[in-house]
Amino acid sequence: MQNDIQEILISEEEIQGKIKELGEVLSKEFADRNPLVICVLKGAFIFMADLVKNITVPLEMDFMAVSSYGASTKSSGVVKIIKDLDQTVEGRDVLIVEDIIDSGLTLSHLIELLQNRGAKSTTVVTLFDKPSGRSVNLEADYTGFVLPDAFVVGYGLDYAEHYRNLPYIGILKPEIYTS
Ligand code: PRP
Ligand code: MN
Ligand code: MG
Repeated sequence: MQNDIQEILISEEEIQGKIKELGEVLSKEFADRNPLVICVLKGAFIFMADLVKNITVPLEMDFMAVSSYGASTKSSGVVKIIKDLDQTVEGRDVLIVEDIIDSGLTLSHLIELLQNRGAKSTTVVTLFDKPSGRSVNLEADYTGFVLPDAFVVGYGLDYAEHYRNLPYIGILKPEIYTS
């Protein structure tokens, strides 16, 4: 276990098992719809890579980078588009892939944007959900795991850009972000 991690909350095996299940369900949901699967960078990149390998129907992918946290542990409430999509979403069934929903601000902003651009439908799959953090009313269509109110990192989730590469979800030692 990485030295800055206090406790492993969700193991690599549990995560991979859940992604297989999500892939099966989404393969049924999106059969014959050729969805545009959108990865919300940076946090969702590892989930995206593992998830699409488990979706067995034709799809296209695109990537968008947004950020609301910066180097802080709290959402700033301001969602910045760092990199926009390359493709148009007009008339498309869009599947938004997120690593985590906390306040819900990032996704509510993104859904509104994609709907305004003429997406035919927007579906959200998130691997993690932290309902205790919500400041807007937003639920994912598909959720992997519900997390407690702790500062977690790993599997794409960062603290000041670190720990994204951990294959599990861990609780960060408080002295790391309070010092
Ligand atoms: C994190 C996470 C989600 C968002 C969730 O991204 O990856 O995208 O925050 O929080 P919210 O529901 O309160 O909006 P972040 O802004 O840290 O950027 P990153 O993905 O590049 O780490
Ligand atoms: Mn993110
Ligand atoms: Mg982040």
